[in-house]
Amino acid sequence: MQRAHIMKNFIDIKDFTTEEINVLLNSAIENKNKNKNQNLGSEEILSGKNLILFFEKNSTRTRLSFDLAVKQLSGSSIILNGSDIHLSSGKESLSDTIKTFSLYSDGVIMRVNNHQTILDTLEVSNVPVINGLSNLSHPCQCMAGLMTIIEEKGSLENLNITWFGPITNVAHSWIEAHSKNLGFKFSIFSPNRSRDLYLSKISEYKENLNLESIVHDQIDDEILSTTDVIMTDTWQSMGEETDEHVIKELDDFRVTKSIMSKAKKDCIFMHCLPANRVQEVEESVIDGENSRIWEEASNRLHVQKQILRRLI
Ligand code: CP
Ligand code: NVA
Repeated sequence: MQRAHIMKNFIDIKDFTTEEINVLLNSAIENKNKNKNQNLGSEEILSGKNLILFFEKNSTRTRLSFDLAVKQLSGSSIILNGSDIHLSSGKESLSDTIKTFSLYSDGVIMRVNNHQTILDTLEVSNVPVINGLSNLSHPCQCMAGLMTIIEEKGSLENLNITWFGPITNVAHSWIEAHSKNLGFKFSIFSPNRSRDLYLSKISEYKENLNLESIVHDQIDDEILSTTDVIMTDTWQSMGEETDEHVIKELDDFRVTKSIMSKAKKDCIFMHCLPANRVQEVEESVIDGENSRIWEEASNRLHVQKQILRRLI
């Protein structure tokens, strides 16, 4: 058994051992079932603690679920948008901003344009830092997705999980989760142009991933026929330029009713949201009986509460 190291920050799935990820997921499910209908302040683990939630980009779910998580654990939170503070006007450095955050908080949750901002934050922060999405990754989303699948299918063991469309920040966290040997097989169906954009992005962060056996530039019907979970994401991630060629090519990777009918009968559909119902997924799929988008969105609260219990 691998020895768990002390969890100091929650930046990327790759930073954790398989055991740590499994423990986190199982405890999140256990606590969710134990604390059904939990009220604000019903658990005192964050009593007297303050969390700063900092958003350089828009958010609905991450903002709501983290704010509620902190309050249910008896902590307080301050939400800051990028435009609220001197950092965005260039009047104050990131380093001085984060040192100030550390004076007034016991933890910082950050949604940033550039993943490097999170890495630079780690250099100066005296309090734990949680990645609430960057251009590179979205680990909290992936953890909520894994939790939803375990609840639905009983475990991750021998499942086939298939990603359709652009290789986004969410997909990156799934690639990292897959590399942890959690028991599931992972395939990505994505056009070459989209794969190349992803490869150039990860090279900025010196990530070296072998995608050969995972990424397919066409839909493989054999893999699809054994797929238990289909996932996708928006074709236009926040802050990214829209490349018309990529959008055109992604059209072949829409998740349609016909795609769902070729997967296993009990295959579920998941999406991190927000979704564009005329692009990446058909309305009949995202609102269909095999869709688990709302379970996944509500599990953001439960998995993030578990991250806070461990970290703060
Ligand atoms: N999935 C997700 O992170 O949603 P928000 O952008 O609304 O926070
Ligand atoms: N890939 C999307 C995820 C949103 C939760 C984006 O970055 O906009």
